[in-house]
Amino acid sequence: MILEALSVFPEMFEPVMSTSILGRARRAGLFEFSAYNLRDWTHDRHRTVDDEPYGGGQGMLMKVEPIYEAVESIAATGPKPHVVFFTPCGAPFDQTCAERLATYDRLLFVCGRYEGMDERAYTLADECISIGDYVLTGGELPAMVVMDAVVRLIPGALGDEQSNKDESFATGDDGGLLEYEQYTRPAEFRGMGVPEILLSGDHAKVDAWRRENALDRTCRWRPDLIADARLSESERARAAELLERYHGSSDKAYG
Ligand code: ADE
Repeated sequence: MILEALSVFPEMFEPVMSTSILGRARRAGLFEFSAYNLRDWTHDRHRTVDDEPYGGGQGMLMKVEPIYEAVESIAATGPKPHVVFFTPCGAPFDQTCAERLATYDRLLFVCGRYEGMDERAYTLADECISIGDYVLTGGELPAMVVMDAVVRLIPGALGDEQSNKDESFATGDDGGLLEYEQYTRPAEFRGMGVPEILLSGDHAKVDAWRRENALDRTCRWRPDLIADARLSESERARAAELLERYHGSSDKAYG
C-alpha cells in the first residue's frame, strides 16, 4: 500500500510514521509513505498557498491552483490514487471507513490549513473525511489518525492478528459492542482487585463475564451503539435493564 500526504507542514508526519507499529510496518515494507510540501507547487517568490476569501470574511483560504497542480503531478507518478480531503465538513470517520480505505492500493491525503479551501479544490476529492465534530488547525492530525487506523488493518502490521478482532468497533465477533475490561498483574494494586472470575481459569465463565461486561460498558458509555449491536433476545432484555439503570430510559439507545 502507498500512503501519501500533501501539506504545508510535511515535517509533522515523519515522527508518527516512523514510530512504534506504524514505523515497524513501514520498515517491513507493508506500506510506503511520502509527505509532499504544497509550496513546491507554487510559482511566486513567497511560495503563497493562501489568499483572502471573495465576498470578505475572516481568515485566509487555501488557493486552488497549487492544490490542483500538486494532486495532478503526484497522481501521475504511479497508479491512480484514491484522494481524500480532510475537513470538519466531511463524512464522519469510523472503523467501517478505515476498513474500506484499507482496501485501496494508493491513498493520497490532502490536508487543509487556514479557514478552509477554495471550494473548487474539492472537485479533486474522491471523498472528504472529518474525524469528529470539532475544529482543528489543519488536516495533518486527522490524516495521521486515519493512517494509523488503516495501517493497523494491513495483515501483519500488528503481529498478532487476533488484536484486530476483539476490539471495540471492529466489525467482527464482538457484535458492535465496546471492548470488555482487561486486567494484568498484580491481582491487587492499592486496594483495587481484579474480578474473581478472571482468576478462576474457567474459560466459559470468563467468556460470559466478558460479554456481560461489554454489554454493560456499552449501555453506560455508548448507548447510541445498542440499537445496531448484534444481541441475543436475552441480551436485548438485559440491555433494556442497563439502559434504564444508567440513563433512566432507553431513549439514548433507541431515540
Ligand atoms: N480539519 C480541521 N478540523 C478537522 C476535523 N475535525 N476533521 C478533519 N479535518 C479537519
